[in-house]
Amino acid sequence: MIQEQINQYSLEIDEFSPANAAELEEFRIRFLGTKGIIKDLFEQFKTVTSEEKRVLGKVLNEFKQQAEAKHAEFKEAFDAESQTAKTEGDLTLPGEGYAVGSRHPLSLVRNEIIDIFKRLGFVVAEGPEIEDDWHNFSALNFPEEHPARDMQDTFFIKKNAGKDDIALRTHTSSVQVRMMENGKPPFRAIMPGRVYRNEAISARAHCFFHQVEGLYIDENVSFADLKQTLYHFVQELYGEGTKVRFRPSYFPFTEPSAEMDISCTICKGAGCNMCKHTGWVEILGCGMVDPNVLENCGIDSKKLTGFAFGMGIERIANLKWVIRDLRLFSENDVRFLRQFKSEII
Ligand code: PHE
Repeated sequence: MIQEQINQYSLEIDEFSPANAAELEEFRIRFLGTKGIIKDLFEQFKTVTSEEKRVLGKVLNEFKQQAEAKHAEFKEAFDAESQTAKTEGDLTLPGEGYAVGSRHPLSLVRNEIIDIFKRLGFVVAEGPEIEDDWHNFSALNFPEEHPARDMQDTFFIKKNAGKDDIALRTHTSSVQVRMMENGKPPFRAIMPGRVYRNEAISARAHCFFHQVEGLYIDENVSFADLKQTLYHFVQELYGEGTKVRFRPSYFPFTEPSAEMDISCTICKGAGCNMCKHTGWVEILGCGMVDPNVLENCGIDSKKLTGFAFGMGIERIANLKWVIRDLRLFSENDVRFLRQFKSEII
């Protein structure tokens, strides 16, 4: 009796192929459920003679395994299907996030400066960070005994007390020289880059920092052009109404030379810690390129004139975000860096 039932059910199970999870569940209840066929067969099994039990026991167990295996096979397939259906189908589920970095604040400021000057027709130029004496000093009209050549300020790589010296550039003005030597006037370029000075590292000074140099050489370029260009730059960078003032200064490579102040961007000129209560902050050095420099670079100073300027990128970033410690820019603490979100990624 039991044997016959098993034979029949076994054939049925063999052929069983559910179309969906509901059919599989029906199968499970029918065969493997607490009131199912297998349970019933085991009940019947209790009533047979012990001789029959020896044979039937094995058959019954194998039959049970057959039913379980069939169920397991389809359950796995249906489970995987319903999982993908759920995630593909539900458009309200949050997307998989991925971390995006942010631009370094100095890159943000540099790019902003470049953008403003590009719109005025300036091109971007770069030069080496390891320079010779000629490009960093001599061509720029530094007298032999100028203190900037001193060991205190310059990181020398090779020092022969003279024109063979090799050093880490102390300013981006060296790129001006390279540009004038290698190109053909007129020149209208800005030159961003890292510069090095032999200073003790503190909140206010570092042994390296970043500058953007500007150079404009053409016929009839005047100090008025310099003033107007920088005035426009400041309005773009800090907003309309930012005031500028020029104070006479000295650089070996410009004559006349000036330092440019802007009305304090923090207190708008009322006086605060940032501007030391003067209402003004210095942001750059500038001047008309000294005729000696033009001649050193093979340019006829009778025909052409030009202006140059140089500014520290850290200084501009300080004024923008009031960052009190210069060291933050180079420590790469992500808690600091993450605060500067850019639209450009
Ligand atoms: N090179 C000067 C500096 O490092 C800045 C400067 C550049 C001044 C160009 C005048 C003209 O301080």
